[in-house]
Amino acid sequence: MPGRTLVVIPTFNEIESLPGVVARLREAVPAADVLVVDDQSPDGTGAWVDRRAVEDDAVHVMHHGSKAGLGRAYVDGFGWGLDRGYEVLCAMDADGSHRPEQLPFLLKAVDDGADLAIGSRWIRGGEVVNWPKSREALSRGGNLYVAAMMGLRVRDATAGFRAYRADLLRRVDLPSVDARGFVFQVDMSRRTAAAGGKIVEVPISFVERAAGVSKMSSDIVVESLIKVARWGVRMRVDGLRGRRRWDGSQKG
Ligand code: GDD
Ligand code: MN
Repeated sequence: MPGRTLVVIPTFNEIESLPGVVARLREAVPAADVLVVDDQSPDGTGAWVDRRAVEDDAVHVMHHGSKAGLGRAYVDGFGWGLDRGYEVLCAMDADGSHRPEQLPFLLKAVDDGADLAIGSRWIRGGEVVNWPKSREALSRGGNLYVAAMMGLRVRDATAGFRAYRADLLRRVDLPSVDARGFVFQVDMSRRTAAAGGKIVEVPISFVERAAGVSKMSSDIVVESLIKVARWGVRMRVDGLRGRRRWDGSQKG
């Protein structure tokens, strides 16, 4: 397993799922620390983590004042981890869709030289279990859209189960990220590629949540459509100007 590892878990109303996921994670990867970033979940998720953090030194919590989106949760959570010297920072959903038992495969890929390991549903060996056909279509369509607009060579660019090398996160200028929703994942895929980072996709089994509800919404879809189109245009313009690397200083 690579050096000091932190797993960041964003939560909004995951009280039915999070306790089991944290227990499985502590069992599967005991050496990793955990940071839950909760956006004042009305169901008491944040209060549960507060109690869990008292019992277990490896578990930490960050509370946002209100629901600020998945992107904000990760920017703040990764920033917290970088400030504390973690060498590998992971992203994982709280609802059990990402199996903690598969995190070692991502960590192995980082150990073997990846800057970003992505748990991928859409490469050979990857799968989705119990996902409604409509969600599968949205994910496959989303990835086709990303590939067409941005030419990214990532099969599952929207995936949320990831392990990043800290040096890479320092190079992608996290404070300039303004993606709010799930398109954050695409933004990080694109920033990694632009920074010359090595991306390795590892097949995973993505299991639909057994409890609680998805936070996917039309706002999240609209933000994704607009941002991906904008990034695609910018990459082409930069390409025409002969700029090889996106320098991270531009907003939007
Ligand atoms: N802190 C915080 N704030 N957490 C959030 C927010 C928010 O505004 N919105 C969602 N989350 C948390 C959820 O509580 C969960 O732990 C995780 O983010 C993923 O949210 P889900 O609602 O379970 O997402 P999904 O299952 O519909 O979507 C999955 O597929 C997407 C498309 O591939 C996830 O894996 C996404 O990461 C992925 O982009
Ligand atoms: Mn989910």
